Amino acid sequence: MSTAVVKKPLPPFPEEEHWLFGSGYLIKKNPLVQMDFFIKKYGDIFSLSVPLHKVAVVSSPDLARYILLDNNKNYTKSLAYDLLKSLLGNGLLTSEGDFWKKQRRLIQPAFHRKKLEELTAMMIEAAEKAATKFSKYAATGEYFDVLPEMTALTLDVISKAIFSSGVDDKADIVGKQIAILNEITMEKLRRPIRIPSIFPTPFNLKERRALQILDNVVYEIIDKRRKEGISKDDLLSMLMDARDEETGESMDNKQLRDELMTIFIAGNETSSNALTWTLYLLSQHPEIEEKMIREIDEKLNAGVALGFNTVSSFAYVHQVIEESMRLFPAVWSVGRRTIEEDEIGGFRIEKQTNVLIPLIYLHRSEKYWDEPLKFKPERFAPETRGSIDKYVYFPFGGGPRICIGNNFAMLEMQLILITLYRRFRFKLKPGFEVDGEPMVTLRPRHGMMMLAVNK
Ligand code: HEM
Repeated sequence: MSTAVVKKPLPPFPEEEHWLFGSGYLIKKNPLVQMDFFIKKYGDIFSLSVPLHKVAVVSSPDLARYILLDNNKNYTKSLAYDLLKSLLGNGLLTSEGDFWKKQRRLIQPAFHRKKLEELTAMMIEAAEKAATKFSKYAATGEYFDVLPEMTALTLDVISKAIFSSGVDDKADIVGKQIAILNEITMEKLRRPIRIPSIFPTPFNLKERRALQILDNVVYEIIDKRRKEGISKDDLLSMLMDARDEETGESMDNKQLRDELMTIFIAGNETSSNALTWTLYLLSQHPEIEEKMIREIDEKLNAGVALGFNTVSSFAYVHQVIEESMRLFPAVWSVGRRTIEEDEIGGFRIEKQTNVLIPLIYLHRSEKYWDEPLKFKPERFAPETRGSIDKYVYFPFGGGPRICIGNNFAMLEMQLILITLYRRFRFKLKPGFEVDGEPMVTLRPRHGMMMLAVNK
């Protein structure tokens, strides 16, 4: 009798595929629609054929929990993060293993409650400044694109948290480079064959230029701080003063640059998209907008001063944001890669397989949500919030690599919504086409043309 071990099968491969570039190519053309089709047809776990890579797609909470938490030691970040490395270097989002762990320990204190409390007044001030700008649009009755406005606002907040000062004079240029690099990274993912970045193709040159501009901004700030020789109460000084427990070494300029750029980009691109989607959803649901405004007005009119200790009393605002991130998660998919062969859901996952977890499908699945496509902030009411599985709804990811800025982001977004809706309602331009573009983040493809109406 044969004693050969029968190997588990690989997850099923879709029969639909491009003749040369495989089934993965179909996803790159229209990610949200095609992925939805595959998940409905092939279920919680299936393979994708992609030239030179092994890829599996996983969309069940148990399997997501297994990969991100229970067996996370067998996984590194996936292919998409390799591409992000040209922008973020070896910062917190893209680094691995003991090095990542050490950096996470060093950086975590910057996101503690006490630190967030210290940042609250700055966040409110930035939101007020944006509201003043919006009141000019309201006065002239002109439609404006909310997306770049939210990008400028969250850029203002994150740069003040990192550098104490804003990048006011450079906000425009920085915002533009981030948009270019987001597009370039996504385009790289879409291209089955990539020309290495050392070759000066127009595409590669465009990337180099954008990176150079961002690098200059960051290095200039680091240099200035080193020359001043004083320690400030911000993330830059905290990182500059941090010492390795064992070696006593501090971070060199390159590592500082990577960590700052990571937080700068991760903390800006995500929150600005999430806020823009929230304004959109509220504009489409006047009854929900009304309920949220009532909460805001009642509290503020009763003399509640908006601040770190009172923000949690605006419970409905919190629910609105959570529900908005369910339907439009700024990070719509996370990915990992197996170190050793694994077994998931009864299938064999070979070594070095990229495993995609497109969390947007769990967020919108009929299996886990009643009327999944309906915007219903009541789902997140305190009485029922606890019963939502952490891997059915996980806009900030899960396991040890969960977003370090989740509390920062929730605080910032609540303060901004309260400040804006205290003064305005927002109306979508009639006939404006709204469409989600799944880049690295889920962006509104054409921006979001809206009108601010004074209350
Ligand atoms: C709506 C806002 C945000 C969303 C939806 C979001 C989402 C996420 C997700 C899903 C991950 C995990 C990625 C993975 O598992 O591969 C992540 C990681 C990360 N996020 Fe956020 N994020 C947001 C805001 C922020 C902010 C405000 C900051 C910083 C101020 C930030 C900094 C980071 C960093 C540094 C990581 C990497 C953490 C690590 O691997 O240790 N994020 N974020």
